[in-house]
Amino acid sequence: MEDLTPDRKSLDPIEIASRDEIAALQFHRMKRTLKHAYENSPFYRKRFDEAGVHPEDLRTLSDLSKFPFTYKQDLRDSYPFGMFAVPREQLVRIHASSGTTGKPTVVGYTSGDINNWANLIARSIRASGGRPGDICHVAYGYGLFTGGLGAHYGAERLGCTVVPISGGMTERQVTLIEDFKPRIIMVTPSYMLSILDEFRRRGIDPRETSLQVGIFGAEPWTNRMREEIEQVFDMHAVDIYGLSEVMGPGVANECVETKDGLHIWEDHFYPEIIDPDTGEVLPDGEMGELVFTTLTKEGLPMIRYRTRDLTRLLPGTARSMRRMEKITGRSDDMIILRGVNVFPTQIEEQLLKVASLSPHFQIELTTGANRMDSMTVHCECLPDRADKSARDAAAAELAHHIKSVIGVSSRIVVHDPEGVVRSQGKAQRVLDNRPKER
Ligand code: DLL
Repeated sequence: MEDLTPDRKSLDPIEIASRDEIAALQFHRMKRTLKHAYENSPFYRKRFDEAGVHPEDLRTLSDLSKFPFTYKQDLRDSYPFGMFAVPREQLVRIHASSGTTGKPTVVGYTSGDINNWANLIARSIRASGGRPGDICHVAYGYGLFTGGLGAHYGAERLGCTVVPISGGMTERQVTLIEDFKPRIIMVTPSYMLSILDEFRRRGIDPRETSLQVGIFGAEPWTNRMREEIEQVFDMHAVDIYGLSEVMGPGVANECVETKDGLHIWEDHFYPEIIDPDTGEVLPDGEMGELVFTTLTKEGLPMIRYRTRDLTRLLPGTARSMRRMEKITGRSDDMIILRGVNVFPTQIEEQLLKVASLSPHFQIELTTGANRMDSMTVHCECLPDRADKSARDAAAAELAHHIKSVIGVSSRIVVHDPEGVVRSQGKAQRVLDNRPKER
């Protein structure tokens, strides 16, 4: 693969500024954000008053820990427009979560917010090895989800030719990659695997495509998956992170030259890692829940938003801004099986060790007659390894890896090729079939 390190002169100066310069900018912006939230959002005014804090109490960056957290539930409680800090007329766009579990969460952007967002996605694409003039195939979903439109505006901002294909219609994805010859693809890693299947079905060697850079995010994926995708496509695979409550994609992004975790765009988002049980701020390097405070958002400032994503903060490398380690998982997705914590990413890592299995999988949780929970991993064999003995061996090998590395017993079901449901966006990794009332 080609070295795609961007020219330093093409970076935003703040990406490589000194830590002091970054901290000074953060402090100035944080103060302004707290004041804006307090003065213009009745929600934050009430929260701050109840906690007995005032924006004036921020004298150093670490004073942020005096301020109360904001939760997803707060957005639900103020559905649809109750948390905004500007009159609704000043919002130029709304996005929303699907709302499969309860009320959707609605977020809104001023034109200034959209402008910053486009700049940060442009910065993220550049960090990934993209350049002006590239054709960029955007297969994140367009619509209320932030992935498609977020990526789209940023790719345009960088100067790319955008193909706004959105998710789904996998055959057409492959046709347009073949015909338009994009250099960049932006898509969830699980959907990239569905696209890969389609290349193979058509007998096209994925290493021969025009793709050189894949910008994958919106769901957890492992370094082992990176190796797999880089190898089969002969392309760079980098990680992009974000969440709608804080902005959308482009809160943090890996640099193609190091691929060592995601640089947080700290001039716009201030990260903290906390102990999820006590709320205490943890020092850099320790694992915990990621919390963000937005530093420039006008429409919906977020003060100490609890992401539920688990990671740790690391010092900058390719940029001065701190990195977050690749996300292990969300605290909501953590499976507790007979006292052992298991994340779907851990299963992915073990599955990819087994050469005769495809990378698609789903985890099913059930409760047996003995009231004990058990885990079944549904996976599938590769077409040329579909005989019974190969499948039995694969199942035994995977069960062994899961037991010896993660420490839990599991049942493995090896389905026929194409037997595991395909993702067209965020993969649903866990099917919880345990009784609801327990
Ligand atoms: O998924 C925004 C996005 C779109 C990010 C496209 C990257 C690319 P939400 O639907 O609000 O927003 O979901 C946010 O997805 O809290 C994480 O749990 C998870 N997530 C997002 N990016 C990553 C990633 C978009 N790179 C939630 N690694 C977040 C792991 C991720 N998890």
